[in-house]
Amino acid sequence: MADAFWDALAPSEEFDRDDEAVNRALRWRVIESHLAGVETVLDIGGGTGAFSIPLAQRGYRVTHVDGSRAMLERAAARATEAGVTTLELVEASALDLTRFADRSFDLVLNLDGAISFSGRTARPW
Ligand SMILES: C[S@@+](CC[C@H](N)C(=O)[O-])C[C@H]1O[C@@H](n2cnc3c(N)ncnc32)[C@H](O)[C@@H]1O
Repeated sequence: MADAFWDALAPSEEFDRDDEAVNRALRWRVIESHLAGVETVLDIGGGTGAFSIPLAQRGYRVTHVDGSRAMLERAAARATEAGVTTLELVEASALDLTRFADRSFDLVLNLDGAISFSGRTARPW
C-alpha cells in the first residue's frame, strides 16, 4: 500500500519544525499518563518510530502500523540503530485493522495523522 505523499515526508519526519518539539513533548505526556499496567501497545501511523521505538526500548511489546513503506523502512533502520529487536512493523492502512483481534492491545496510539488524514482524498486509502 504505497503512499507517495507520506513516503516523500519520511526523510524529514524526524526534524521538529516550529512548535513540533512542544507538540511531541505533549504527546509524550499523554502517553506516559496511560502506561500504568500496559504491556502491549499498537501504534497506528507510527511513522519513523518517534514513540514506538522508545516504548519498545522500555520493554513494552509494540506493534507499529503504517501505510507508508518509506516510513516503515526508516523506522526499521532507526530501531536497529537503537538496538531494538522486538518492534513489530506492519504495513497496513489505519482504515482496516481487522488483522488484529479485538482487545489485542492494552494501549492504542493514533497520534498526529493516521486517522485525521484518512479522509476522502486522491490517495488509494
Ligand atoms: C505525521 S506522521 C506521525 C507519526 C507519529 N505517529 C508521530 O506522532 O510522530 C503520520 C503518519 O501516519 C501515517 N498514516 C497517515 N494516514 C495513514 C493511514 N490511513 N493508514 C496508515 N498510516 C497512515 C503516515 O504514513 C505517517 O507515517
